[in-house]
Amino acid sequence: MLHYGQAVFEGLKAYKHEGEVDLFRPSENFKRINHSLARLDMPEIDEALLLEGLKQLVDVERDWVPEGEGQSLYIRPFVFATEGILGVRPSYSYKLLILLSPSGSYYGGASLQPTKIYVEDEYVRAVRGGVGHAKVAGNYAASLLAQTNAADQGYDQVLWLDGVEQKYVEEVGSMNIFFVENGKLVTPELNGSILPGITRKTIIELAKKLGYEVEERRVSIDELIEAHNSGALTEVFGTGTAAVISPVGKLKV
Ligand SMILES: Cc1ncc(COP(=O)(O)O)c(C=O)c1O
Repeated sequence: MLHYGQAVFEGLKAYKHEGEVDLFRPSENFKRINHSLARLDMPEIDEALLLEGLKQLVDVERDWVPEGEGQSLYIRPFVFATEGILGVRPSYSYKLLILLSPSGSYYGGASLQPTKIYVEDEYVRAVRGGVGHAKVAGNYAASLLAQTNAADQGYDQVLWLDGVEQKYVEEVGSMNIFFVENGKLVTPELNGSILPGITRKTIIELAKKLGYEVEERRVSIDELIEAHNSGALTEVFGTGTAAVISPVGKLKV
């Protein structure tokens, strides 16, 4: 049943501080895994049971959680279809596995280096009504060629534009994206084709709490070029579990 792509995953982290291990907002990931499972017509999981299971697993493996700046245990729960049939229909059986891996900085190097991002204008990642809002394997399969092409030209990741007009900014390969424009924090709105990032949600909540004005709306690539030329655009950064908060140093349009 691998043919039909019923595969869903999540990514979250555990951090160690003074010997104590904390999971970062795991309930948000389990809500999202169920959202993704439902979209692929796969059975949902008991979120409380999954959380308890994960806590016990991380406790058993606590010695693998590194401690220190930028260090964490990356946690990858995933679910895929396992039934051995050829017909096109949802599988009757699935496997849920959880991989753990100690991890350092996503882009390598001890400190956060500004990333270089290629604005993709040939391929698209998702369209509304599709599966862009879910964390499903097919989204990543469809993104790899553009990612390879960008890497060949010396870029770290791809910035996806909307799948209809290829005019509006959506998200980066494994991050949501934020701009500081005229002192306001601006990020593309969740329109059905963007992954609702948990780091994105956290940044919006924290920024509002700290008194920043936050706009979730459509952002065109033309607006960004204009804002850059006029000096209104002062910061660009991506947010994601793996990448944490990554400054963007260059956008290749
Ligand atoms: C396509 C995509 N967008 C955004 C994100 C950021 O989401 P989160 O902050 O939940 O990790 C990720 C990473 O999970 C991703 O793969």
